[in-house]
Amino acid sequence: MTRPSRRTFLTGTASLFGAAILPRAVFAETGLPVLRASTSTAQLAPDGYPATPVWSYATGDAGTVPGPEIRVTAGERVQYRLVNDLPQPTAVHWHGIRIENAMDGAAPLTQAPVPPGEGFDYDFVTPDPGTYWYHSHNRSTEQVARGLAGPLIVEDREPWLGEPGAATREVTLVLDDWLLEADATIVEDRWDDLHAAAHGGRMGNTVTVNGKAYPNLEIRPGERVRLRLINTATARIMPLVLQGLAPHLIALDGHPVQPRAIETVLLGPAQRADVVIDAPMDPDAQTALLLDPGNGELVEIASFAVAGDAFTKVHADVRALPAWGTLPAPDLTDPQRETLLMEGGAMRGMLETQYQGKVMDFRELSSNGMVWAFNGVANGMDAPMFRTSLGRTVHMEMTNRSMFPHAIHLHGHHFEVLARSGASNTSGDIRDTVMIGADETLEIAFVADNPGVWMLHCHMLSHQASGMMGWFEVA
Ligand code: C2O
Ligand code: CU
Repeated sequence: MTRPSRRTFLTGTASLFGAAILPRAVFAETGLPVLRASTSTAQLAPDGYPATPVWSYATGDAGTVPGPEIRVTAGERVQYRLVNDLPQPTAVHWHGIRIENAMDGAAPLTQAPVPPGEGFDYDFVTPDPGTYWYHSHNRSTEQVARGLAGPLIVEDREPWLGEPGAATREVTLVLDDWLLEADATIVEDRWDDLHAAAHGGRMGNTVTVNGKAYPNLEIRPGERVRLRLINTATARIMPLVLQGLAPHLIALDGHPVQPRAIETVLLGPAQRADVVIDAPMDPDAQTALLLDPGNGELVEIASFAVAGDAFTKVHADVRALPAWGTLPAPDLTDPQRETLLMEGGAMRGMLETQYQGKVMDFRELSSNGMVWAFNGVANGMDAPMFRTSLGRTVHMEMTNRSMFPHAIHLHGHHFEVLARSGASNTSGDIRDTVMIGADETLEIAFVADNPGVWMLHCHMLSHQASGMMGWFEVA
């Protein structure tokens, strides 16, 4: 098919608030299915609380939180016309997909945000299997916190489910964190809270699993299930424990790892982990998904009800996922060396930093909403952090000189973690978003094989909005 045009398809008739349903005929021009961003409501808080007004994605009639699961097979295309029925401009980023640059949705770098009432055609190939997600990439501190995120699952070309040692079923679990008032509405006046931004970001008070507080998940005795865990929270780091379920890690950020038994799954914002669990044979055994909210105590965020017919077969060792085979290995003999120095935040601050071409002290920076910097520049969108040539290996040494952890995400590429002092990372893992703790130094490497301009930012979205953002160019 021919590439759809990206021009505006509406001429000012749309409601700004999504009340009106647009007539089908409007979309006849390209025929792409619609992904609509609009306002809706969701029962986020436990039963007994009111429903929460949210912003959400819909492929059918009603918007849901999380957004509808988009599912394709590796090598296939994802094609959607984003229709913006929100009161703000928006754009959709397809997190972790090694995508064609123009489809990256990285407003304002790769496209202008789509104004209310207008649309944008996304049409791209998903080269690699794995667990991904999509989310708003404009005013994302607000828009993602209001609910604009959903799972994007790219299935393997080869069968895995049902093979010896593999799971017989898979379940996507989207984990989110909401800052709710006592009446379950979203706290609306703190999107740009600088105090939160200078600390761990705008932290929520309600953790949901697939948009529900404390859901009950069903599992059969002895059943082996693949969980696709996605952290869509704007700030919350999620240390997770799958109690009584003998979890084995099989993939990180979509990328297969040699299956390994794990005690805790650490998911920073935007990170994903695929985990195989084995349900106990005893229906009365204690099984739950537990989260450490930051004080070292574990709280239950979902329960597993072990019920139904038992699986009788003895499980073999956990079967590895098929390797991608599509990611070039970094050539470390003579890489292009880059550094990423993270500074700022409460308790440390930063020395003189550039913002919008001007050198400022911390006080002046914060009066401009900036409390973080990459390489001495806050919100460095004017010029690339570095340029590299197509096919070159880039080695990046990241140093976190602040008191807070960060989740650094590179667009358009996956990288190998070479590690150094990164306590939460295993060297050899391949990721698109990496956690770096206070005063840690991490080394990563990747082949810059995707031409274009690519954002690099902290995925704690209040950190991104207050300075931790830049980009690089591959040409
Ligand atoms: Cu998941 Cu630039 O984002
Ligand atoms: Cu950060």
